[in-house]
Amino acid sequence: MTAAITIEGLEVIFDRFRALKGVKLEVREGESYGLVGESGSGKSTLLKAITGLAPVAAGTIAVNGKTLGKTRDKAFYRDVQMVFQDPYGSLHPRQTVDRLLQEPLAIHAIQDGEKRIERALDEVGLGKGFRFRYAHQLSGGQRQRVAIARALILEPSILLLDEPTSALDASVQAEVLNLLEEVRRRRKLTFLMVSHDLAIITHMCERLMVMQNGEAVETLTASQLIGHRVSEDYTRNLLRASEGFVRV
Ligand SMILES: Nc1ncnc2c1ncn2[C@@H]1O[C@H](COP(=O)(O)OP(=O)(O)O)[C@@H](O)[C@H]1O
Ligand SMILES: [Mg+2]
Repeated sequence: MTAAITIEGLEVIFDRFRALKGVKLEVREGESYGLVGESGSGKSTLLKAITGLAPVAAGTIAVNGKTLGKTRDKAFYRDVQMVFQDPYGSLHPRQTVDRLLQEPLAIHAIQDGEKRIERALDEVGLGKGFRFRYAHQLSGGQRQRVAIARALILEPSILLLDEPTSALDASVQAEVLNLLEEVRRRRKLTFLMVSHDLAIITHMCERLMVMQNGEAVETLTASQLIGHRVSEDYTRNLLRASEGFVRV
């Protein structure tokens, strides 16, 4: 078995605030792995630490068997891409979809850009007709599809997804989740996905880690969470708090 992401003793400190306190995590290749926990527990910080956007004070992060140093090189971003929560914030509104998709291609000097743009737009269910529209002309769901296309265009093996659908209406949310699941299967991707919604995590992920105050509380399979077979009171409270918790 190969690990896509291996994290040991990860500490992130913002000024003097310890946002992650010795976190350990292993995500297998091809797996969809969830992170849950209340707001402020360090979920986004964990994803940011992987992409080099949070100050790592100690510990190691390895991606596809390669231990990362202080900085991330271009090869890293071809392998690991992130999708953020807010489709309004993450795409420049005055840029066309084409321009947004061209940008990573230019940075990485990729030659077969035409083909990749067509494939990516097709894959996220937008098609060629959307190519020259402006981001501000799109709905929230369409924007998030563009953000997913942009993440896919470098053909990564790992997607880090930070609450990718929580800014969307429920019906659109389900569409985008199904799209992500389809893309994962087709491209054999590894997902590390944050959500505060336990139903989404159990629907999308095989295993998950529960976080609280920058620490891992416990690691569970989706079926353990669904069956309420959890060890920690904190997790039990999370289950209770997600009233009407059902499998989607
Ligand atoms: N850039 C930052 N500077 C200072 N504190 C931060 C910064 N980013 C996050 N934090 C703090 O780290 C903790 C974890 O934040 P975050 O990872 O965003 O939580 P979550 O995604 O689980 O809601 C919070 O207490 C937050 O206020
Ligand atoms: Mg967050």
